[in-house]
Amino acid sequence: MSGQALSTRAPSMGAHYAVQLPAPDDFAFWRDQARALVQCEVPPDRVSWIESGGTGDLFAQSGASGLVKRLPVPDRDSRPARASKRFLSLARNAALHSDPERFALLYRLLWRLQSNPRMMEDKTDPDVRRMEELDKSVRRDSHKMHAFVRFRQVEDAAGDEHYVAWFEPDHHIVRANAGFFMRRFANMNWSILTPRGCLHWDGETMRESGPAQRSDAPDGDPVEELWKSYYASIFNPARLKVGAMLSEMPKKYWKNMPEAALIPDLIAGAQAREANMVAAGTREARERLDSLAELAEAARNCRDCPIADCGTRAVMGEGAQSAPLMIVGEQPGDHEDLAGRPFVGPAGQLLDAALTQAGIDRSAAYVTNAVKHFKFVQRGKRRIHQTPTAKEIDTCRWWLESELAIVKPRVILALGASAARGLLGKTVSLKAARGAPIMLEDKAELWVTAHPAYLLRLDGEAREEQAAFFSSDLAKVQARLDTFTSGTQV
Ligand code: URA
Repeated sequence: MSGQALSTRAPSMGAHYAVQLPAPDDFAFWRDQARALVQCEVPPDRVSWIESGGTGDLFAQSGASGLVKRLPVPDRDSRPARASKRFLSLARNAALHSDPERFALLYRLLWRLQSNPRMMEDKTDPDVRRMEELDKSVRRDSHKMHAFVRFRQVEDAAGDEHYVAWFEPDHHIVRANAGFFMRRFANMNWSILTPRGCLHWDGETMRESGPAQRSDAPDGDPVEELWKSYYASIFNPARLKVGAMLSEMPKKYWKNMPEAALIPDLIAGAQAREANMVAAGTREARERLDSLAELAEAARNCRDCPIADCGTRAVMGEGAQSAPLMIVGEQPGDHEDLAGRPFVGPAGQLLDAALTQAGIDRSAAYVTNAVKHFKFVQRGKRRIHQTPTAKEIDTCRWWLESELAIVKPRVILALGASAARGLLGKTVSLKAARGAPIMLEDKAELWVTAHPAYLLRLDGEAREEQAAFFSSDLAKVQARLDTFTSGTQV
């Protein structure tokens, strides 16, 4: 090509070249030959790519002697073939596809790339699209191999443990995946038998052998029962989506997977198990809740810690689902437990007054607690508030985090140390945390201040001093809310 750009207008008459690949997955061989052919300006319609053991190309097979020539050798000074990284990475996978046309397609693309280096970006180009399809299908096949190979235990001739698996890949992926299984099962002696060739690992070296048949592999073994009971125990009915499961684990693989025998029964029992889980309020069922109403419904069944048996009900938060401000207290008190709403008792009234004074509209905020049940001890007719332990706060944290994930507030106001622990997952000193925002992972700003019930317990000067401090904290929160609503974020 010596300095000239390649053109698809190169003469199509002339010698025809046949390249015989030593193995159907030999991408390196294809790449070396393809580079040389491009350098020698041999256009795609004058090359046949013949797969060893494959049907090959009729033109080449007919032995149209005189037309099939020895491969040309490029001049030393000919311009090297160019290929983008994206092309090479897709080509490496696409070369493993079982489509007999794949090497011709790759060569056509490589040829065209010389005059159009940006061709791979053209998503409408039929050749590019076909290459992407091949790549995707090969990646999917490898993924299935990683996920669905199941070893059966046998004894080898020397009486040692050996594990044998049978797998039927759609494409020529076996050798390309040898490293994966070698790393994963490094200390086992194993063989993976497939109709496209086999791999054997003895803990030190990898050996390959030719295609095998299903009957060469054992059927069942003693570890199978163990595997089945493990699978039944991890099967999660709350996550069951039959369509998605069948597309992820197509039936064709079931026959090699001992646990697959359990699937029909597990599916049949899944709905009943899920109903039980929801009634019991288990975590798995809760993971799927994605509205505040669903959360509140599920929280009614929560029995994650002993406080749940204490009060009348779980008191979830209230307010707008997309409130910019979330206010978090410690736990519902006596009044809240009876009313089923947060901050409606004396502490709530003090809070309301302070919010109004700071110009914060409670009805536009989401108000909740770190702990959803009222913890108390009975003294005569009175129910006396008990501070929740760190463990109880942490146990209840899942509910608070779920509320956060749904409401996604820009600013969070934690009232007191229990609220701060619920939000941060660790104990912080109020004194140190007050006065400046703490940025949370999801970019919400957390402001920590005192709990209004603390102010209620003070009197005289101390109360005035703390009330002023509280007001000044709320004023800072209001200023931050203003910046978000007016769009001038700092
Ligand atoms: N104290 C709290 O922390 N939360 C309430 O809801 C009421 C009092």
